[in-house]
Amino acid sequence: MASRTSLIGAALFLAALFHFSAAATTHVVGDGTGWTIPNGGAQFYSNWASSQTFRVGDTLVFNFVTGAHDVAQVSKEEFDSCTASNPIGPIIINGPANVPLNATGNHNFICAVGGHCNAGQRLSIVVVSADTTPPTSPNSPVPDARAPTGSTAPPRSAGNTPSSASPLAVGFGVTAFLSAISFFF
Ligand code: CU
Repeated sequence: MASRTSLIGAALFLAALFHFSAAATTHVVGDGTGWTIPNGGAQFYSNWASSQTFRVGDTLVFNFVTGAHDVAQVSKEEFDSCTASNPIGPIIINGPANVPLNATGNHNFICAVGGHCNAGQRLSIVVVSADTTPPTSPNSPVPDARAPTGSTAPPRSAGNTPSSASPLAVGFGVTAFLSAISFFF
């Protein structure tokens, strides 16, 4: 009885996992610049963040060399003052670092190495729910459901979401995970 309940729970968990994974995006912080003191100061990461839509289930990748930088998630107050005396969770000192986005709302990251945050190595983002439409989309609720004559505009131009490989990869992952579960139960 207990194992059957666990199996059902696992199946529901997998369904939820599949749902979120199918739309999940990996955001490489700063793209090719990585996580460092940017030439453009704090505006650099601010500009980068405004080019992205962060959803629950997405992942941030901070590319940095271990020992040169770190990643501290902090409150808005500590972000503004460039301090990390009361970080949210342990400071990540090993790079590159993957940070899953598990909750909606404001998330603030700084490098706690001396002077780096004040020099611009800080990132503030807003995470929306997994199903939220990007705020930059036009007011038509259903994109390209009906194609008006003469319309040749692609539905999206700026997005660089990898879409072709992920459903297949997720499918393999789920299958492997289900096999593992059926082995144990
Ligand atoms: Cu740093």
